[in-house]
Amino acid sequence: MKEIRPEISFRLYAYDELSAEDQKLIEAAKKASYHSYAPYSHFSVGAAALLDNEEVICGSNQENAAYPSGTCAERTTLFYANSTFPEVGVKTLAIAARNEKGAFTTHATAPCGACRQVMLETQERSKHPLRTLLYGEEGVIEICCVEDLLPLSFSAASM
Ligand code: THU
Repeated sequence: MKEIRPEISFRLYAYDELSAEDQKLIEAAKKASYHSYAPYSHFSVGAAALLDNEEVICGSNQENAAYPSGTCAERTTLFYANSTFPEVGVKTLAIAARNEKGAFTTHATAPCGACRQVMLETQERSKHPLRTLLYGEEGVIEICCVEDLLPLSFSAASM
């Protein structure tokens, strides 16, 4: 028996420490959260993807009375990006969320498992690491590649 402990890493930044480009992407994600449709959870998530062609694609969570039919902000955004620019990779995905009071969360909101899986495949299509920025009022987490969000993953290469 051998125990294997995959090492993951991420960085926590104060908002002011981020580059102007990263701040701009976070602001786009925050703005996108106002287009969320979340009458059931009252948790409004926005995402913004910076593509290799410098386009910024935004999306938000879209819920449905049949709960599983809804989609998270990350998947809305990545599917929109991949549908609009199928040959263009995604450099960075920024995520920001507001709670039921309408305030941005204190701590960074991390993507759910299904979104991490879609992020992994988007990274593979992009042929370079996909960076993620998770916004929280008390700090921003930067994750340099999807493997750090999803170790021991399943992908096309697993089949
Ligand atoms: N949600 C997202 O859009 N992204 C996340 O990273 C976490 C969760 C959405 C799904 C659902 O509409 C609501 O937030 C509550 O789970």
